[in-house]
Amino acid sequence: MNHLLTKISCDTDEIKLKTLNELKNICNQCKACELSKTRTSVVFSDGSPNAKIMLIGEAPGADEDASGVPFVGRAGQLLNTFLEEAGLDRKKDFYICNTIKCRPPQNRVPTNEEKLSCQAYLMGQISIVKPKIILLCGATAANTFIEQEFKISQIRGKWLNIFDDIDVMAIFHPSYLLRNHSLEQGSPRWLMKKDLESIKNKLKELE
Ligand code: URA
Repeated sequence: MNHLLTKISCDTDEIKLKTLNELKNICNQCKACELSKTRTSVVFSDGSPNAKIMLIGEAPGADEDASGVPFVGRAGQLLNTFLEEAGLDRKKDFYICNTIKCRPPQNRVPTNEEKLSCQAYLMGQISIVKPKIILLCGATAANTFIEQEFKISQIRGKWLNIFDDIDVMAIFHPSYLLRNHSLEQGSPRWLMKKDLESIKNKLKELE
């Protein structure tokens, strides 16, 4: 994937914001796949372009399609709770986006064609924001970057060597946590808390 990162020079915050806005404007007009016919909004991003952490989810759902903002529905609210409990600030510490920017009908998993149509936007976002940490939230985001077969429960929580200068970790998707309520040691919610602790520690190391 590294070779796909275009070398866009964004030396100042002003240039960074301008370049991101230009990409967003292009994305807002996008008709590269069929999802453009059924979307209400293109869901480009939330959070800070200067954040050290980029969180990449799967795809917008109904609430995101209606509002144009990623992770605002039930899964997003649960994500917010986990971030707050870990002492992380969604607006300041994170730049949040998805592998694809338009909602698939009935929230089905994005197809490879849809992901490919949207790849330039995602890679552009990474290239411009230049995060120090990327969190792949759920299996769909993870398999955008990991070619081998994997189970999210086996790869989550490990620092992965995917990009040269970016620490990458896969974490559970909050939709999965909505279906798993236990907080017992070893449960998905317990593991999510543990992962967020190591992400917070990594963030501290980078300061
Ligand atoms: N799930 C995602 O993966 N992304 C969103 O923006 C909302 C729900």
